[in-house]
Amino acid sequence: MKRASVLAPSILAGDHANLAASARIVADLGLKWIHLDIMDGHFVPNLSFGPQTVAALRKDSSLFFDTHLMLDEPRRYIEAFAKAGANLISVHIEPPFDHAAALARIRELGCQNGIVLNPDTPAEAVEPFLPLVDLVLVMTVQPGFGGQPFRRDMLPKIALIDRWRRERALPFRLEVDGGVDLATGAECRAAGADTFVVGTAFFAAANPAAVARTVSAW
Ligand code: DX5
Ligand code: ZN
Repeated sequence: MKRASVLAPSILAGDHANLAASARIVADLGLKWIHLDIMDGHFVPNLSFGPQTVAALRKDSSLFFDTHLMLDEPRRYIEAFAKAGANLISVHIEPPFDHAAALARIRELGCQNGIVLNPDTPAEAVEPFLPLVDLVLVMTVQPGFGGQPFRRDMLPKIALIDRWRRERALPFRLEVDGGVDLATGAECRAAGADTFVVGTAFFAAANPAAVARTVSAW
């Protein structure tokens, strides 16, 4: 049985002078999730915002904060983001640190956890962690910037992770992020993804409500 699809609009494509208003657009459409991209200028060549901003958004919002840490040393910040009100915290597999310990710590802090892999990272890199996570995030662009073209060559990776999930009866959500719109998202859905990060194609859409309706019906 296919699990219900979730749309997580990425606030990276929102109004950075008024992120609370961007979050309100999401909530007012009846959506439950919002994706928060945290960048350190090291792991990715861009900067976004930190725990203080997440805490400020939390005061104004009851959305599920899907917090994607693009950081070389995420363990230094996990607690700060949990305290700031993150509901899910995902960390990348690529930087070398004790991933199992970080994933366990995220749960200890009362959050869901996730493991993320870049386009050049094979699915096998996250395979040992699949029983330990609430979410696997397959990057469908090289992370760092919104508005990049979707990497169609990631579809087999999505399908493989979904196959492992079914064979092993594991409960994690399978999320995609980068260049996802109604066309590429439908391809990800067919490959087995159930959770869709949409930045540009949501916040720059003429009709974000139509995007929300379509994705929710997948
Ligand atoms: C990329 C970020 C994405 C980004 C997606 O580094 O992880 O979440 O906001 O933006 P779009 O949907 O515009 O590719
Ligand atoms: Zn992201």
